Amino acid sequence: MHFNIKNILTSHGFGNKINYQNIYINLYDSIKRAIINRTLDENVKLPPSRVLAQDLEISRSTVIKAYELLVLEKYVLSIPGSGYYIASTKHKKMRHNFKAQPVKGKYPSISKRGNAFRKNIQLISSKSEKGIAFRPGLPPLDIFPVQQWKHLMNDYWRNVRSSQLSYSNTLGLESLRENISNYLKIYRNIDCNSDQIIITTGSLHSLSLLSDALIDKKDEVVIENPTYPHAFNLFDSLKAKICPAHIDEEGIVINKVKCKTPKLVYTTPSNQYPTGIKMSINRRLELLKWASKKNTLIVEDDYDHEFSNWENPISSIFSLDNQERVIYLGTFNKLLHPSIRLGYMIVPHYLIDTITALYEQSSRFVSPSVQETLNAFIEKDYLNKHLRSVIEVSVERKELFLETFNSVFENEIILDSNNTGLHIIGKLKDEIEDKALANYLAKKGVIAHPFSKYFIDGSKKNGLVMGYSSVNSKLIKETIFKMKKAYSEY
Ligand SMILES: Cc1ncc(COP(=O)(O)O)c(C=O)c1O
Repeated sequence: MHFNIKNILTSHGFGNKINYQNIYINLYDSIKRAIINRTLDENVKLPPSRVLAQDLEISRSTVIKAYELLVLEKYVLSIPGSGYYIASTKHKKMRHNFKAQPVKGKYPSISKRGNAFRKNIQLISSKSEKGIAFRPGLPPLDIFPVQQWKHLMNDYWRNVRSSQLSYSNTLGLESLRENISNYLKIYRNIDCNSDQIIITTGSLHSLSLLSDALIDKKDEVVIENPTYPHAFNLFDSLKAKICPAHIDEEGIVINKVKCKTPKLVYTTPSNQYPTGIKMSINRRLELLKWASKKNTLIVEDDYDHEFSNWENPISSIFSLDNQERVIYLGTFNKLLHPSIRLGYMIVPHYLIDTITALYEQSSRFVSPSVQETLNAFIEKDYLNKHLRSVIEVSVERKELFLETFNSVFENEIILDSNNTGLHIIGKLKDEIEDKALANYLAKKGVIAHPFSKYFIDGSKKNGLVMGYSSVNSKLIKETIFKMKKAYSEY
C-alpha cells in the first residue's frame, strides 16, 4: 500500500515532540494508537518504510525501528518479500471499545422525504433474507455468461482512450441507444428515435427521475393495486395523492378510478406486478383514451417483457399510442442480473430537456464501461442467445416447481400457474396470515414474500409470492420439502 497515512499518524500523536525524545517511539506509538482504535484495521498493509520515511521526512531506519517494535509486540506482521501488515484481533476487546460509537447530540432534522423513505423501508426490506430460494424477481443468475462478459469488459479496458475516462453523455452512449431502439423494434414493435431513449441504472432509477420531473405535493398519481412497492414508496415520498386502480382478469380497471386531474398512471401491463395478469388489448386502448381525455401520462413499466411476451406477445401501450403520452421503462437488470444496473426509458419529446437537466445535476450518467460492454454484448448477438437460454431454463424450472409443489402441498397452498413472469403466487387459506407465515418460513431458511405487502389500500389478499427461476432443480426440490416441513409445524 502506498497510501499516505500522515494524516492518521498526526491525529494519533505523531509530531508531538514535547512528549517524545525519540522520533521512532513517537511513530511507533501513533501507529499503535491508530491500530487500537481501528483507524488502521486488521490486514491493512502499511506503506513501505521508504515511502513512509519520504512522506514524514524522517530517515528510513527510524521507520524500520518503529515497525520492528510493533512486530515485536505483535501489532504488526512482517511478511518477507511482501511488507508489514496490521495483525488480526490481538487486541480485539480493546479495539471494540474504540469502535466508533454513535454520538448522542443535536443534529439537523431529517427531511420529510427522508422520513417517508425510512418509514416505508419496512415494506421492502429483505435484509434478513439468506439465499435465493424462493426470492421473487430474480432471473437464472447461474447461467449468466460471465466469461463472455469478462472478455468484452477486458476488450473495453484494453482499447480505452483517455478521453473515454472523462465525463460522459448524460443520456447514454449513442451506439447503445441505437441498439436498444432496434432491440425494442423487434421485441416490442416500438418505433422511437434513439434521442428519446435515456440510459439509467434501471427501472427504479428511471421512475425516480421522471417522478422528480413531474410530481409535486398533492398531485394525483394512479397506481395499480396491488403494485410494485418501490414505485408506491417513491410517489408516497413526494407526497403525491395516490389513487389506487383495481385489477381484474383483463388488467387495470381505469374507468372506476376515483381522481380528478391525475398526472400519471403507473402500470405493468405485460405482467401485472405481482399478480401476473396480462392487460388485454381493449384495456390498453381504453387506458390510452382515458389518459388522453384526462391529459395524463402513462408510465408503462415493461420490466420483464422478455419473459412475459415470449409465448403470447401483445403490443406495448407505447406502440399503440400516437399522442406521445406514454413513458416506457425497460431494464436489463431482470434479463441479465440485478447487479448489472442498466436500464432505460423512452420519454416524450417534451420531457427530454427536463429529465436531462435533472439527471445531469443529480446522478450524472451510467458508467460507460458497463454501457460499452452491454453494447458489444448486443452486437455480438450474445443477448439474444442468452435470452433463449434464460427462457428455456425458466420454463424447465417453472414446470419442476409446479409439479413438485403441487404434489408436496396437494391443495394446502394453491398455485396460480398463469403468471408468465419470474414468480408464482400461492393462495393461502383465509385463516393463515401471510406476513406471519413468511416471517416464520424465513427463519426456517425459505424465502417467500407475503402477497398482502403489495396492496396499497385495505383490500389485502393472503398469499405467498415465490420466485423459482434463479433456483436450480436440486434446490427447488430441497426447498419445497423444507417449506412443507415448516408449514406443517406452523
Ligand atoms: C415491477 C418492477 N419494475 C421494475 C423492477 C426492476 O427494477 P430495476 O431495473 O431498478 O432493478 C422490478 C424489480 O423487482 C419490478 O418488480
